[in-house]
Amino acid sequence: MTADRQPPVRLRPEIVALAAYKQGKPAADDAFKLSSNENPFEPLDAVREAIASSAINRYPDASASVIRTRIAERFGVGLAEVHLGAGSVSILAQLIQAAAAPGDEVLYAWRSFEAYPGLVAVSGATSVQVPIQADGRHDLDAMAAAITERTRVVIVCSPNNPTGSIVTAQEFEQFMELVPHDVLVLLDEAYIEFVTDSTVVNGQTLTGRYPNLVVLRTFSKAYGLAGLRIGYAVGPEYILNAARSTAIPLAVTDQAQLAAIASLDHEDELLERVRALALLRDEIWTALREQGWDSPKPHGNFIWLETKHFTERATEIFTEHGIVARALGADGIRISIGEKESVASLLKASEEVVRSLPSTLENPGLD
Ligand SMILES: Cc1ncc(COP(=O)(O)O)c(C=O)c1O
Repeated sequence: MTADRQPPVRLRPEIVALAAYKQGKPAADDAFKLSSNENPFEPLDAVREAIASSAINRYPDASASVIRTRIAERFGVGLAEVHLGAGSVSILAQLIQAAAAPGDEVLYAWRSFEAYPGLVAVSGATSVQVPIQADGRHDLDAMAAAITERTRVVIVCSPNNPTGSIVTAQEFEQFMELVPHDVLVLLDEAYIEFVTDSTVVNGQTLTGRYPNLVVLRTFSKAYGLAGLRIGYAVGPEYILNAARSTAIPLAVTDQAQLAAIASLDHEDELLERVRALALLRDEIWTALREQGWDSPKPHGNFIWLETKHFTERATEIFTEHGIVARALGADGIRISIGEKESVASLLKASEEVVRSLPSTLENPGLD
């Protein structure tokens, strides 16, 4: 039998139908890559040294005990209430798989982090997407109303990727009152360190308060370790044990663990960079508003431009100016806050986009 006469391997149709996770486009040598919400700063020397000292021929410490201890102290919880993963996206996948199976529902705002739909599909559960409000914020009332007997997981993303909007502490508390205690709530705080608004919900202050809440954080963004893949979850021990049971063992490398420890040792220096990025973000947002954009107030390290069906052309215009931005369907463009040197080209491009936007654009995200 020749290979082409063989019946194809039987794969799960819902997986075959699934588009693989799309990464931000690589940038040409002279372009700025502002498509993946990465930190533009080079690693600290201390981080480089930590990585250089790591063991490569040995497996990492599967329990990641040193870095977990540091995080547990910081959050005021026990060691078992902290779980490490190869990026917080790994932990999201683990928790969704641990809680949701075919027939179950996973609820989240949309648009939000583009990995959520794929992670839910892989678990076999069904995504329930609750539209974000016109100003980019989660519609928590609508989310609470969308909870059914089948709901197993609710994801709240603050700041929300890609709109940059936050959920306030008060809004979150009110929301939690409406969520049944047997539904797992994941508070995805990948960008929390960039928030300067004191009304924001902060998972660190909520530990022990809700029996069904897990807070997710990452070293990828503020701490600049995206390439090393390390993130963490803080929550009730038995829930995190279930995540550990679905995890691929030994995925968090020694390099990642040591780099995270070094980052906490030099946190002041890193948070100074975060402050600089937040300031730059606010400057860019102000300039965009002066150009006529009505983009939501950004609280992460990125800005959202709602270019709707003009998104493809708008992305090309950014590329022509040496800016690689992230086009998200026919909804809009997300632009990360990167090198200071990228700002002039970014604003030139955004101005050209504003001028080129067709007047027929429905709800163009413009004043
Ligand atoms: C909202 C959100 N959550 C989680 C992640 C995952 O980050 P990582 O897996 O690098 O920790 C990202 C990355 O872009 C994100 O935007």
